[in-house]
Amino acid sequence: MSKLFIPLDSFAVACGADTIAEEFQQLKTNRGLSFDIVRNGSRGMAWLEPMIEVETPNGRIAYGPIEPGEAEALVDAGILSGAGHPKHIGKVEEHPFFRAQTRHTFKRCGITDPLSLEDYKAHGGLKGLERAIGIGAAAIVGEVTESGLRGRGGAGFPTGIKWKTVAEATGARKYIVANADEGDSGTFADRMIMEGDPYCLIEGMAIAGVATGATKGYIYLRSEYPVAIDVMREAIRRAQEGGVLGASVLGSSHVFDIEVRVGAGAYVCGEETSLLDSLEGKRGQVRFKPPLPAIQGLFGMPTVINNVITLASTPEILAAGADGYKEMGMGRSRGTIPIQLGGNVKHGGLFEAPFGMTLGEIVNEIGGGTASGRPVRAAQVGGPLGAYFPVSLFDTPFDYEAFAAKDGLIGHAGIVVFDDTVDMMAQARFAFEFCAIESCGKCTPCRVGAVRGYETVKKIIDGERPAENLALVEDLCNTMKFGSLCALGGFTPYPVMSAIRHFPEDFHGEPMRVAAE
Ligand SMILES: Cc1cc2nc3c(=O)[nH]c(=O)nc-3n(C[C@H](O)[C@H](O)[C@H](O)COP(=O)(O)O)c2cc1C
Ligand code: SF4
Repeated sequence: MSKLFIPLDSFAVACGADTIAEEFQQLKTNRGLSFDIVRNGSRGMAWLEPMIEVETPNGRIAYGPIEPGEAEALVDAGILSGAGHPKHIGKVEEHPFFRAQTRHTFKRCGITDPLSLEDYKAHGGLKGLERAIGIGAAAIVGEVTESGLRGRGGAGFPTGIKWKTVAEATGARKYIVANADEGDSGTFADRMIMEGDPYCLIEGMAIAGVATGATKGYIYLRSEYPVAIDVMREAIRRAQEGGVLGASVLGSSHVFDIEVRVGAGAYVCGEETSLLDSLEGKRGQVRFKPPLPAIQGLFGMPTVINNVITLASTPEILAAGADGYKEMGMGRSRGTIPIQLGGNVKHGGLFEAPFGMTLGEIVNEIGGGTASGRPVRAAQVGGPLGAYFPVSLFDTPFDYEAFAAKDGLIGHAGIVVFDDTVDMMAQARFAFEFCAIESCGKCTPCRVGAVRGYETVKKIIDGERPAENLALVEDLCNTMKFGSLCALGGFTPYPVMSAIRHFPEDFHGEPMRVAAE
């Protein structure tokens, strides 16, 4: 029996995929057609969602974007056998957006049935965990260190060193925490992997558990991701049933289990120590460091806290060995990075590639420029705390150090594209406003600075002593950068200062450049 793949991914669901699935199900029943509907993950080509795929003797043929109400006409046109149609895309692997990628972490996403453990195994799943159990804790840590993997949550800290610290720490209990708060604007890689290949995160967390002696894992998942919450919970249940999690991980002497905890929705709860406070049932507020979470983390115990993509990258590293991973990338940025393209871009979606492509290649060649068709003016890289890059800096390669050298950051690898209608002074004001709303309030430079920054940029917008107020903003940015306790206050100056530095023409102080409130 052939298969019809209709994504359950939020991209597709937001555009009617659930209705489309129901329509195909009804047609199947009414007409006695013989095909199975598989709710798969997304292949990452967001502008083509909902993109359905039909299994044919010649491979999987994609069609998209499909709209609710189209199922009957599509079946009549013969798409169940791969027939031509205006929405025919062909084989996903041959699509230029997909062909140019190196799918490492996302190699199964969109291909398998996310909740089928059998399908996961059939596509290479659990090989990393099996090998990890075989080689033991020290060798796992060695392999992850050797791969050069750095944290994908933003700071780029070497994962092997973090795991080693926890492995060597003593505590009555140790924990693995997956940071699935994914608060950065324009990012969705964590969500996509949790919805499309949940066992990959489960396997990565179990590997971290075996490597460090942790027996319990938590996935701190944002409440705005209801599909991911459901998929993760069901995958954990099935992994427990299948002996992947529990008292004997894959039949070994290792104990490891996982629970999903849903965050209430605060950007600062993505910061690792606030996240731990929130997990403990407290109000999420940043903790002083030291002690590091690796030494005294959740409930005061040694804790690995890693981003979802960091953890989900480890099964393949363990399965295939560190060498292949290490060979990809540039400088100290090794392996692949799932880049998320959003904002005003023609081809938005997830593009996984080795580090090293330039920002210009990603935005213009892969992304196809703006969706509006107007010239690209800026790209904000790394979420709301990331710098705005002008086109003149588009030759910057995607690499942690190269971005830092240009006063920017890669963060969680989200790129938000803007065309020439963007008002950078409004964007600078927004950066302060965001910080003021999301600040946890623990330290003065951020709590007070963000509000004062917002007010001062507003004065410039209103034409009130622009030169003087601009100098004040710069001064304030320095105080926030060097005086804040965490990166929320410490990095808000990045979008502000990059907007001022690279787009000075927007800060000339003419009144009413943006709508006054
Ligand atoms: C304000 C703020 C928000 C953050 N939000 C996230 C987030 O949503 N997801 C994430 O993985 N890391 C986030 N981080 C980074 C985490 O503090 C931490 O560095 C990360 O979870 C460590 O995992 P990694 O080493 O795998 O990157 C945030 C940091 C700050 C300062
Ligand atoms: S910088 Fe802001 S978010 Fe971070 S600790 Fe200080 S007040 Fe809290």
